[in-house]
Amino acid sequence: MKAILIHEDGGPDVLRYEDAPDPVPSNDEVLIELRAASLNHLDVWIRKGMPSVPKPRILGADGAGVIAGTEERVVINPGIVSGGKMHIVGETRDGTHAELIVMPRDFVHPIPGDLSFEEAAAFPLVFETAYRMLVTRARLQAGEWVLIWGIGGGVASAALSIAKALGAQVVVTSSSDAKLERALQLGADAGLNHARDDVVARVKELTGGGAHVVVDDVGEATWKRTLDAARAEGRVVVCGATTGPNPPAALHRVWWKQLSILGSTMGTPADFQGAYDLIAAGKARPTVDRVYPLADARAAHERLEAGEQLGKIVLSIP
Ligand SMILES: NC(=O)c1ccc[n+]([C@@H]2O[C@H](COP(=O)([O-])OP(=O)(O)OC[C@H]3O[C@@H](n4cnc5c(N)ncnc54)[C@H](OP(=O)(O)O)[C@@H]3O)[C@@H](O)[C@H]2O)c1
Repeated sequence: MKAILIHEDGGPDVLRYEDAPDPVPSNDEVLIELRAASLNHLDVWIRKGMPSVPKPRILGADGAGVIAGTEERVVINPGIVSGGKMHIVGETRDGTHAELIVMPRDFVHPIPGDLSFEEAAAFPLVFETAYRMLVTRARLQAGEWVLIWGIGGGVASAALSIAKALGAQVVVTSSSDAKLERALQLGADAGLNHARDDVVARVKELTGGGAHVVVDDVGEATWKRTLDAARAEGRVVVCGATTGPNPPAALHRVWWKQLSILGSTMGTPADFQGAYDLIAAGKARPTVDRVYPLADARAAHERLEAGEQLGKIVLSIP
């Protein structure tokens, strides 16, 4: 089969479109002919170098296709739980940026609703992550206000879709006015430019005192404003830190406002199912930013790393 492999750490130039051995399913696994896959920031972290990930490695957590030799349209859940541990597809095992993949049967699901292969490949990792953040961890309620930083991001755009499906009100931020306009079309109640606007003051005004829930996967660049924009007894939920994991803790804000700081990572099969059900019911939908042929994975990585996208960058697999 053809696949995108990395043999060494580095920039997008280490991605190679080349031949790799066809994977062979064991008894409890199925072979999937992939039709689409998507990118996550995880692919960039691994490509740049994560000592725990052996190389060569095929990147990619998300994928959709058909069970080999059939017309059965399926999507994979990339958070494989076995032996009490989670194994992420494309990290601890070969990923979806390839023509074929083998997956444990329990982590293969029919494509929900009327989603195309590209849309199906765009939802699993970020929707299960955002679902766990908002529902399982932050216990978001209808009518509450959520602040989501950097709506261009995959997790951020999934969080917007899920928060609206739950009946919450959402303020998003972006570095790009065009992305803010698009986010309003996708259901955001307000959009702020985090490079230009006084986000804290505007969030307090819009929400009558601060957001009930703040979704922050940006880290050092936003943390101070996150603590300021949350209302008293608000919940701040973090799953990552694109700009660095060590902002000043500002503990006085945490105790004075009695904030809850909630960590969250990917999700359990129940979180995946929760997100899946919202999509199957037509209440939530992934946002596809742009589709590249598999062979052009390098250009896709460049777009992600430059932060040009809104939503998910997808690879189509012939
Ligand atoms: N723990 C987990 O299970 C888990 C799961 C998924 C992701 N993550 C982590 O979460 C983070 C986001 O992942 P992703 O795949 O959604 O990434 P992504 O698609 O690459 O998101 C990047 C977005 O972050 C925003 N951003 C970057 N710098 C910013 C800044 N200085 N201020 C405000 N916003 C900024 C930008 O939004 P605008 O373009 O709108 O400005 C950018 O488009 C990554 O660090 C990833 O590793 C963790």
